[in-house]
Amino acid sequence: MERTFIMIKPDGVRRKLVGRIIDRIEQRNFDIVAMKMLTPSRKLAEAHYAVHKGKDFYEPLLDFITSGPVVAMVVEGENSITLMRNMMGATKPENALSGTIRGDYTISTRENLIHGSDSPESAACEINLWFPELS
Ligand code: RTP
Ligand code: MG
Repeated sequence: MERTFIMIKPDGVRRKLVGRIIDRIEQRNFDIVAMKMLTPSRKLAEAHYAVHKGKDFYEPLLDFITSGPVVAMVVEGENSITLMRNMMGATKPENALSGTIRGDYTISTRENLIHGSDSPESAACEINLWFPELS
């Protein structure tokens, strides 16, 4: 069974969409095997988004991700990395289809509600970073 790291970003918590997002994950019949709410430290956010260091959106992204509580989860199920990315919708609002979480609930490129690991390597790295107690 494949595991992926999913995070409901601070806008999702502020906008009270946590229940609806979790409901979609459960409706798809994925297992949520770990979950916690926390306000990420700068250090954690930097490590999580290290791949984007140096890009123009990096600093504002860190400000956003550390701006309030997030809901961090480990989601398990067959092909969960790809299927969760599909359910999230594209990063660019103009490409985020209706029926996806981003396509249904946001028009913002930055404040886009949800993060999901994009490869087996990033999933392993992110689960280890956010849930060291699992390893
Ligand atoms: P994520 O990593 O959060 O799951 O999102 P993603 O793969 O769809 O997008 P990615 O390219 O990895 O970008 C990470 C997050 O940075 C913010 N972003 N802002 N041009 C911009 O202002 C811009 N581009 C990206 C978004 O919050 C994006 O999800
Ligand atoms: Mg990404």
